[in-house]
Amino acid sequence: MNAPTSLEQALDLAPLWKPFTANRRFKSAPRLLVAAKGMYYTAHDGREILDGTAGLWCVNAGHARPEIVAAIQRQAATLDYAPAFQLGHPVEFEAAARLVAHAPPGFSHAFFCNSGSEAVESALKIALAYHRARGEGARQRIIGRERGYHGVNFGGMSVGGIPGNRRAFGQLVAGVDHLGSTHDLEHSAFSRGAPRWGAHLADELERRIIPLHDASNIAAVIVEPFAGSAGVLLPPQGYLERLREICDRHGILLVFDEVISGFGRLGHAFAAERFGVMPDMITCAKGLTNGAVPMGAVIVREGIYDAVVDAAPEGAIELLHGYTYSGHPLAAAAAVAAIDVFEREGLYARAHELAPYFDDAAHALRGRPHVIDIRGMGLVAGIELAPRPGAPPAARGYETFVKCFERGVLVRFTGDIIAVSPPLVIERAEIDRLFGTLGEVLATVA
Ligand SMILES: Cc1ncc(COP(=O)(O)O)c(C=O)c1O
Repeated sequence: MNAPTSLEQALDLAPLWKPFTANRRFKSAPRLLVAAKGMYYTAHDGREILDGTAGLWCVNAGHARPEIVAAIQRQAATLDYAPAFQLGHPVEFEAAARLVAHAPPGFSHAFFCNSGSEAVESALKIALAYHRARGEGARQRIIGRERGYHGVNFGGMSVGGIPGNRRAFGQLVAGVDHLGSTHDLEHSAFSRGAPRWGAHLADELERRIIPLHDASNIAAVIVEPFAGSAGVLLPPQGYLERLREICDRHGILLVFDEVISGFGRLGHAFAAERFGVMPDMITCAKGLTNGAVPMGAVIVREGIYDAVVDAAPEGAIELLHGYTYSGHPLAAAAAVAAIDVFEREGLYARAHELAPYFDDAAHALRGRPHVIDIRGMGLVAGIELAPRPGAPPAARGYETFVKCFERGVLVRFTGDIIAVSPPLVIERAEIDRLFGTLGEVLATVA
């Protein structure tokens, strides 16, 4: 362990309860970041850390973009806050218009919130409200997927399928069922791009779930186009298309949770475009403001807003849902500025062009110790390690993460899967360094 720095000594680490972190272990050897610019963080000991994870899948245009910084500063000085309910401010309308225009054709309205978790809760509530407004109020069940991650609030946790995230919290939202995971190393290990095997897994919706619950009781299916937090699990070729067809046949809404896949990760604004499958709603957050201010959104296709709004009596609030900070001026200003940067710099096309180089660099790790799968698409890769026999889960993942950090490279681990998802502005030499360091580290992991 390195000697404590003066900052570490000056800080009182005790009062903070860190999220999704082993607090005692972290506080015994904290990793602190004090600054960021472009592709790099500065750690508290002055070291530069190459950001191989775009923060937490959010800083897609690179850190501290001057245009975004300036927009936030300007907005804070002009209108710091405006009540979200029954009042408005220009920038939230501008942000909605830009976001809807940025979305695939056919999407018409955006509802703002503050995070991916809230976007999911909002989408689930909109799904229920939509069916109710159309006289199909019995449609209340929501279908998620094993290994899905939809945030940490009760709705998202319930439709989510990561056992560890659910175990401790007992009573989940009722009426939820789950499709099986599509992840299958036996058939799909080391696939390049979307695996060929597994489209038929979508049929479970029509074979088991719909007969069991009856379509007239099912409001929505929610999936991530590719599962990010569970370890970069790509959809089998044809799988999302089948989900779409089945939902259409049964009047079920399809929600794509694009909190990670949105804003260029797969070389398009949204993964829906990458896969050519249009959901009814898209949830997004993270890259929406380039991570600079918390913001989430639900983008709905034409007809959903009208169905809910037109069903209510004139003057009545149509959707009794919203947050104090929905469309917050600073977040809205950051979103407009971030979308400007994405569009002006053609960052999604850049990600698309870099993807084969990135994919080759990832797959060059095949044969390194412990590596049992490598998968990726666009600028995201998952490197799955065999768990260390007899050790708690994630022992190898954690060791890899820490050792990479010590060598100046930030990767992410989820269990024993290493996820790499850099800002889209990464250069080839940085891709080499990212995977080169990972390869060196894997050679040292027990
Ligand atoms: C697909 C997906 N949905 C929802 C969330 C939750 O987002 P947040 O942490 O902003 O609440 C995440 C976070 O990683 C995510 O990946």
